[in-house]
Amino acid sequence: MSQVIQLKSELEQRINAANDLDSLEKIRVDALGKKGAITALMQNLGAMQPEERKAFGAQVNELKDNVTRLLEDRFKTLKAGAITARLKAEQQDMTLPVTPQAKGKIHPISQTVDEMIAIFADMGFTVAEGPDIEDDFHNFTALNFPEAHPARAMHDTFYLPDATEGKDKKRLLRTHTSPVQIRTMMSQKPPIRIIIPGRTYRSDYDMTHTPMFHQLEGLVIDKSTHMGHLKGCLIDFCKTFFGVNELPTRFRPSFFPFTEPSAEMDIGCDRSGGGLKIGAGKDWLEILGCGMVHPNVLKNCGIDPDVYQGFAFGMGIERVAMLKYGIPDLRTFFEGDTRWLDHYGFDALERPNLATGL
Ligand code: PHE
Repeated sequence: MSQVIQLKSELEQRINAANDLDSLEKIRVDALGKKGAITALMQNLGAMQPEERKAFGAQVNELKDNVTRLLEDRFKTLKAGAITARLKAEQQDMTLPVTPQAKGKIHPISQTVDEMIAIFADMGFTVAEGPDIEDDFHNFTALNFPEAHPARAMHDTFYLPDATEGKDKKRLLRTHTSPVQIRTMMSQKPPIRIIIPGRTYRSDYDMTHTPMFHQLEGLVIDKSTHMGHLKGCLIDFCKTFFGVNELPTRFRPSFFPFTEPSAEMDIGCDRSGGGLKIGAGKDWLEILGCGMVHPNVLKNCGIDPDVYQGFAFGMGIERVAMLKYGIPDLRTFFEGDTRWLDHYGFDALERPNLATGL
């Protein structure tokens, strides 16, 4: 009997004195573990007379319950203390200066689009967008492509397999950003001054062609814009974009069904010595297609060609990015190689703007 009382007071003392969870756990094992003191008392019961066993058993059970409760209480107290202590120890000094470590890089296409937008926004253009999945009407018919005209075939169009409705509704992946000209002119009244950056698709694949690529389209419609404005706008753009003050340019007659007259713009470059330098030199480099919007296109959009006129242009974004940043193979843009992106990519914290230079 006294054995039980003695063990009880001894365990009580030890439990109250325990200052951390580890020493409390040791006490629990000492008392209630396989070889613990209370467990040992229980084992003695077997050798006792029934009467004695009943009384002693009740006492040991009570002791066991008491000690278990004491252990639980103490555990709760110590655990709460441990959390407080940990929170205190883990405090952070919020006044420490931030050291920016930008991981990741901006893809050259995103960078180039941002640069182009910055330049044209400065000239008063706003950005317009349209769907990648187009129909024959917006991509060709409304842009004055005659039925069965070879230009339709020239674009190596991806048609969607489910397009069985009327010809104009045949769905396709847009082959250029020009259908957004149509969408804008049908939903907006002139004056219009927009650029359209976006993805375009043609079934082609080699060093200079990928089935998906990007174009930037421009459209200006008002009552007085003429070819001189077209030239001035594009010459200014190229000088700013390539960062050269002296840039020879020439406009060669060309053909697009949706512009008349049409032209291709070349910029001067120097290929001597094996490299390629944009600016004054003996050589020329084709950079974009452009022209005055064809009266039929204006008519197709419900705009009176006797009152309104304007120009449009379109250029390949990868192409100008390759020229500006010396990227030799178009296909690498879309291979998702992080080493390539590390090399050709741009700092996420330095976004292009005209004030600081592109
Ligand atoms: N859409 C033409 C192309 O993809 C480019 C262009 C746009 C030409 C606007 C003239 C005017 O080749």
